[in-house]
Order: sequence, then C-alpha cells, then structure tokens
Amino acid sequence: MSSFSRTSICLAFAFAVPAAMAQEDGPLPKGPGVNLVYATCQECHPISYVVESAGLPDFLWQDTLNLMKQLGMKVTVQQEETLYTYLTTYLGTEPPPEPEAETGAAAEVDGAAVYAGSCAVCHGADGQGTPGAFPPLAGHVGKLAAADRDYLPLPVLYGLSGEIEIEGHTYNGVMPPWSQLSDDEVAAILNSMLERFGGAGAADLAPYTAEEIESARGLGLSTSEVLERRPEIP
Ligand code: HEC
Ligand code: HEC
Repeated sequence: MSSFSRTSICLAFAFAVPAAMAQEDGPLPKGPGVNLVYATCQECHPISYVVESAGLPDFLWQDTLNLMKQLGMKVTVQQEETLYTYLTTYLGTEPPPEPEAETGAAAEVDGAAVYAGSCAVCHGADGQGTPGAFPPLAGHVGKLAAADRDYLPLPVLYGLSGEIEIEGHTYNGVMPPWSQLSDDEVAAILNSMLERFGGAGAADLAPYTAEEIESARGLGLSTSEVLERRPEIP
C-alpha cells in the first residue's frame, strides 16, 4: 500500500464530524447502496470504522476504497461505484439527503433485490457460496426451514459463529448480524431464497411473515446462541 493513502486517511480524522448521523435502525444513514456497504465492509472490521470516518471529502473516500482493495477487499467495478456513491453522498462533507418517505407495504419489498445487495457478496448471487469460506444457501435453506422454521431468521437477525457442517464441508466463520433490515425485508429475503433456490422442503413451507420476524427479534441472541439453536439436518 502506498504510504500516501495511509497518511491521508489518518489526516482525514481531522475532518471527521461526530457520528450524529446514526439512524434508529442501524448506524449508517439509509440510502441506495447502504446494504452493500454493510455487506462489503463488515467482512473485515466493524462498521464503526466506516461510521466514524463520516465527513471525509470525496477524494479521501476514493483513497480509502483503494486502500481497502490493497488490503484484500474484492469488489466489482460496479460495486465499487455503488460504494463510492453511497459513501460520498451519505458520509461525505455535505449533510446526507433526507431519507425517502417509507411508502412500501410488506408485499412491495423485493426480496431478491435485498438479497443481491446484502447477502450475495458472501453467499453468491444464486446462493452457491464460496467453498471453505462462505456456506452455500442454495439447496440448503429449505432443509433448514423444514427442520426448524424458527431457526432460519436467526442467523440473519443475530449473525452466526462457530463450526457448522453443510454437505460434508466444514465452515467456521462469522456472519455479521443484519438487524438493520426491517421485518418486511428479512421476511422478503427468506421467501425469495426459498422460492429461488430453497431446494427440497422449500415448496411445502408457508411464506415467512413480518410478524414472525418481529417476534424472533425479541429473543436477543448472541451469534453462539444462534449456533445452539441450529437444527441437525441429515
Ligand atoms: C479485506 C478486508 C477489508 C475490507 C473488505 C474492508 N476493510 Fe477497511 N480496513 C481493513 C483493515 C485491515 C483496516 C485496518 C488498517 C489499519 O491498521 O490502519 C481497515 C481500516 C479501515 C478504516 C480506518 C482507516 C484508518 O486509517 O485506520 C476505514 C475508514 C475503512 N477501513 C473503511 C472501509 C470501508 C468503507 C470498507 C467497505 C467499502 C472497508 N473498509 C472494507 C480491511 C478491510
Ligand atoms: C460477510 C459475509 C456474509 C454476509 C454478507 C452474509 N452472510 Fe450469511 N453467513 C456467513 C458465514 C461466514 C456463515 C457461516 C457462519 C459459521 O461458520 O458459523 C453464514 C451463515 C448463514 C446462514 C446459516 C446457514 C446454516 O446452515 O446454519 C444463513 C441462513 C445465512 N448465512 C443467510 C444470510 C443472509 C440471508 C444474508 C443477507 C441478509 C447473509 N447470510 C449475509 C457470511 C455472510
């Protein structure tokens, strides 16, 4: 990495504004691309690294993205553009735009789109996973939900850590929590995964409702407590 970008990022903390931008449902202001920021940046460090850098001028966000790529961040050109636009718009030198008025009812959330923005970076566009690093969800989420319907929302709401085995492969990673997604969004993601690539068992399941997600949210679990609730599947 070039020492120039390293220095400029440290200097940048002089520009940083207090993290007064936190929104009630997550530390980052809501806006197009926010889920991709959560998904991409939390792969290596807490989102607070990003939140606390709010107020950087555009060129320092570009420097930061370059530095993260040197540190191993893998993004496509298009993803990088989305990240850059989000970071400079919502965590730049100007106050972030007002969040768009919530107009959508549950049925209008596009689960496949939220999956693409929040989950695909690790689990793959079609849930295929990355061997050894990120478990596959395709052909697997239906089995999990059929074995214990109440389990499937838990990794999404609370994250998951510890050793799991899927189709003979062992995974021992950390999935960050997605509690900033709304109940409607979580239900829509689960239903879209089950419909698109749920595999055996998925067809017989009733769709998840926002109410089910809301009650799962009340459990207050840690990532290892989620592991304890994971059903044994054949
Ligand atoms: C492949 C791993 C990886 C990914 C992905 C990643 N980072 Fe980082 N990031 C790091 C490491 C490692 C550090 C600590 C570097 C250091 O010690 O200064 C860091 C530090 C930072 C810092 C603090 C910089 C400083 O001067 O300490 C910011 C801001 C940051 N990252 C932003 C981001 C953003 C924004 C994203 C997502 C677009 C992201 N990171 C994704 C690895 C990553
Ligand atoms: C930063 C990478 C990352 C992102 C983003 C991510 N996951 Fe995960 N996910 C993981 C890892 C790693 C595991 C396995 C954790 C372990 O080994 O204990 C996992 C596990 C899971 C599991 C549990 C599988 C099982 O067999 O118990 C489900 C379900 C899941 N993820 C769904 C999602 C959904 C839905 C999203 C988007 C809202 C998502 N994940 C986003 C990394 C990620």
